[in-house]
Amino acid sequence: MPEEFAIGIHDLSVATTRYVLTHDTLAAHNGSDVAKYHKGIGQRSMSVPAADEDIVTMAAAAAAPIVARHGVDRIRTIVFATETSVDQAKAAGIHVHSLLGLPSATRVVELKQACYSGTAALQFAIGLVHRDRSQQVLVIASDVSKYELGNPGEATQGAAAVAMLVSADPALVRIEDPSGMFTADIMDFWRPNYRTTALVDGHESISAYLQAVEGAWKDYTDRGGRTLDDFTAFCYHQPFTKMAHKAHRHLLHYCGHDADEDAITRHIGHTTTYNAEVGNSYTASMYVGLAALLDNADDLTDQAIGFLSYGSGSVAEFFAGTVVPGYRSHLRSDMHRDAISGRQDIDYAKYREIHEHSFPVDGGDHPVPRETTGPYRLAGLFGHKRIYEPR
Ligand code: CAA
Repeated sequence: MPEEFAIGIHDLSVATTRYVLTHDTLAAHNGSDVAKYHKGIGQRSMSVPAADEDIVTMAAAAAAPIVARHGVDRIRTIVFATETSVDQAKAAGIHVHSLLGLPSATRVVELKQACYSGTAALQFAIGLVHRDRSQQVLVIASDVSKYELGNPGEATQGAAAVAMLVSADPALVRIEDPSGMFTADIMDFWRPNYRTTALVDGHESISAYLQAVEGAWKDYTDRGGRTLDDFTAFCYHQPFTKMAHKAHRHLLHYCGHDADEDAITRHIGHTTTYNAEVGNSYTASMYVGLAALLDNADDLTDQAIGFLSYGSGSVAEFFAGTVVPGYRSHLRSDMHRDAISGRQDIDYAKYREIHEHSFPVDGGDHPVPRETTGPYRLAGLFGHKRIYEPR
C-alpha cells in the first residue's frame, strides 16, 4: 500500500472569452422581462467566444499561468474534460500540450460525461498522484455552452475554462475520501454527434439534478462521509446560479434542516458570483464556483467545502475538500476578476453572427479573423485540421 499523504488542488486558474452578451441585451431583443433572467435564473451576462476562441484557446489561457508558476518537469499527465469537444478522435489537450510546450513524455487524454467529467478528471488525477507522489497532473475543464436561438436554455449559455494542478501536499484544497456516486440513465440534456447545439428537457433536467443530489449524498453518508453541519460552504454545478439554490434547498430539506434563504446564501453565495456573469461552462462550472469562493470569501483555512458535481444523462458525485492554511497567497483573484470585467460587451447582432457561424466542411483553407485578446488563438481550419497559434 502507498503511504498516506494529502492530495488535492495545488493551483487553480480560470479563463473565459473576449466577448460578453448581457441579459439586458438578450431581454431587449426577445421581449422577456429581464427579472426572469436576473432573479428567476440568477444570470446577469454570458461569455461569448470570439471567432478565434474555443475550448482549446480558453484551456491554454487557463493553464499557461500554472505552467509559468510551477514549470513542466513534474507534469506527467493532462486530463482534458469537455462536453464541447472539437474532434471525435484527437484529444483537445494535445493542442494545449503543444501550445504550452510540455515535454513529449506526457500522457494526454480527453474525458466526456456532460458537465460531470471535470470531476472524473480530478479523481483520476488523484489516483495517479496516489501511485506516485512526485507526479503532478494538469486537469483542464473547458466548455462553450450552446443552445438553439430562442430555446429556453439560450439564456443559460456561457463559456469558460478552469485549469487545476493536482499534486501531493496541495497549496489550496485537500480532496478527501469518500465520494458519493449516483448514475441514472435519463435523457434530460444531450447532444447527438451531428448537432452543435444541445437538446434539453429543461424542467425534467432540474428534477433529474435534484434526484442526483439526493442519490449522491445518500451514497456519501452511507460510506461514512461528513455530516451536513461539518461544511462551511458548498460548491454545486451551476447550469444557472439559481440551480445551486434549488439544489442546496433540496439537500437541506432531505437532511431535515430548515432551508431559509439566509442559510442558503451563507453556504453558497460566494460560489455563484463568477457563474452569474460567465454563464454555464458545463465541466468547468463547479470549479469556477470554487474559484469564486476562494477568491471572495473571508478566511476559509481548515474549513470543509462540499462539492456536488452533476452531469446530465446522468452522473453525480458528492465529495469533500478542506482548505489548506496559507491558501490565500496562492490565489489568482485579480486575474479572475480582470478576465470577467475585461470582456467586451457585444450587441445582439454580433452575438447572433457568432452563434450562427460554422466552418465549411469542404476541406478547404478557412482562416479565422484575429479577434481574441487572449494569449492563444485558433488560426483557422486548413484541410480539415484545426490550427492553433500564440496570438
Ligand atoms: N421575474 C422573476 N422571476 C421570474 C420571472 C419574472 N418576470 N419570470 C419567470 N421567473 C422565474 C420562474 O418562476 C422560475 O423560477 P423557479 O424555477 O424558482 O420557479 C425561473 O424564473 C425560470 O422560469 P421558467 O421555469 O418559466 O423558465 P423557462 O421554462 O423558460 O426555462 C430552464 C428555465 C428550464 C432552466 C431553461 O433555462 C433551460 O432549459 N435551461 C437549460 C437546462 C438546464 O440548465 N437545466 C439544469 C439542470 S441540467 C444540468 O445541470 C446540466 C447542464 O449543465 C445543462
